[in-house]
Amino acid sequence: MGVVIALVNQKGGCSKSTTAVHMSCWLSEGGDKVHLLDADAQRSSSIWISSMEDNQIAATVLQSADELLEQIPELAAQCDYLIVDGPAGLAESTRAILFRTDLAVVPCQPTGLDLQSASDAVRLIKQAQSVRGGAPKAAMFISRAVKGTKLLDEAIALLSKTKEVTMLKTVVHQKQAIADTFGQAATIWDLLGRPAKSSAQEYEKLFKEILGMLP
Ligand SMILES: Nc1ncnc2c1ncn2[C@@H]1O[C@H](COP(=O)(O)OP(=O)(O)OP(=O)(O)O)[C@@H](O)[C@H]1O
Ligand SMILES: [Mg+2]
Repeated sequence: MGVVIALVNQKGGCSKSTTAVHMSCWLSEGGDKVHLLDADAQRSSSIWISSMEDNQIAATVLQSADELLEQIPELAAQCDYLIVDGPAGLAESTRAILFRTDLAVVPCQPTGLDLQSASDAVRLIKQAQSVRGGAPKAAMFISRAVKGTKLLDEAIALLSKTKEVTMLKTVVHQKQAIADTFGQAATIWDLLGRPAKSSAQEYEKLFKEILGMLP
């Protein structure tokens, strides 16, 4: 049975799809059989994965809460890692994903509005943990951070207070190189230059930290 890792946060634009695609590619490069489950109506991550050359990653699009509940175990049985790209908005689908995932990862932008929506995601995680007797494990990380902003430290301090969700140490910064990857049908490892390299290192550190949370 493969491990299910889901990127969830109902807030749009916090980098769920970008992180899901990068993590899928990183795991696949490491030799694991990876399946990407795109639960977003915009289908950006499955379109992105399918447009990449030498792509070894199968992608499935599923949107309804019923389909997600029923099919996540079946898909996970056929791979080493099932990476779920969660939808914006849809609380029912997010809840279904949280009932089936081994690990929930919440990307959060360090702005006031996003911190509010992260607390909505934490609420759904706590509900699932209560129903499932502790599962899923859950982690949060700061995404799209702009260096030197005051709110960043405050955001980290605030989010670290939630005991049900582990605050990861890695911060992924806002970089043009990351924003460029989708349009180029690429990941950050395909792009040249120093900014791309430093973003690639942030992602590698993040993914190692995420895998470190699994038993
Ligand atoms: N670290 C980053 N630096 C710069 N741009 C980024 C970064 N992460 C994501 N982006 C850009 O921000 C936008 C939103 O990212 P993405 O689509 O991954 O978020 P999402 O959470 O999946 O959004 P949605 O909820 O709408 O599906 C995209 O244009 C993406 O290229
Ligand atoms: Mg998305």
